[in-house]
Amino acid sequence: MDVGDIGIDMRTLPPSTEGRIDPRNWFAEPSNSFELEIGSGKGTFLLQEAQKRTEPNYLGFEWTAEFYRYAADRLRRNHISNVKMVYGDATEFLQFWCEEAIADVIHLYFSDPWPKTRHHKRRVIQDRTLRMFHRVLKKSGLVHVVTDHDDLWEWCEEHFAQHTALFRRLEFGAAPSAGAGELVGTNFERKYKREGRPFHATTLVRMD
Ligand SMILES: C[S@@+](CC[C@H](N)C(=O)[O-])C[C@H]1O[C@@H](n2cnc3c(N)ncnc32)[C@H](O)[C@@H]1O
Repeated sequence: MDVGDIGIDMRTLPPSTEGRIDPRNWFAEPSNSFELEIGSGKGTFLLQEAQKRTEPNYLGFEWTAEFYRYAADRLRRNHISNVKMVYGDATEFLQFWCEEAIADVIHLYFSDPWPKTRHHKRRVIQDRTLRMFHRVLKKSGLVHVVTDHDDLWEWCEEHFAQHTALFRRLEFGAAPSAGAGELVGTNFERKYKREGRPFHATTLVRMD
């Protein structure tokens, strides 16, 4: 699925058995700080952040083809050079391809709640994902999480409580690019805010 320089289709990566990949090398300035977003949807957060903060390199993951294409094309049309989009499952990339200790921040906003018990295994936050986040983050790296979904939040809190050796909790601060009264300013936040839904948010800090 070709969207020019901005998009990377995970199916075109070399087999993971050939070794790990450092995605910072996909950017013009690989030594800049590096942030990941899991489930970028239409790319609103990445577009706003990259316009506000031009130093970091941002890598967004989206496994829905329509949204991936939309986000990548939107970033291209806005001449954003410090964001790339990956088409595929972020957790697979982190587990099988991604080099360790490379990311400063992982963003996870309005992740799919998968409300049915038999689908809980599809939720992004799992014991194994928290261990992956710890592996991929640099020392003192951050994971920002925001959701509107009470049951998913309870699940997250339970998982975070199981991994206090990996992460400690910090109060969530609004993203630099968020608008007045917003936490992150994604499409889902704006839609749910109009409906008057309350949000849950936290930041995890990687422990050594
Ligand atoms: C509910 S939407 C939220 C989109 C955006 N973050 C927002 O707040 O507006 C969640 C998005 O995450 C994507 N997604 C979920 N799990 C994913 C995964 N493991 N890898 C890549 N994308 C994922 C879905 O396709 C969907 O577009």
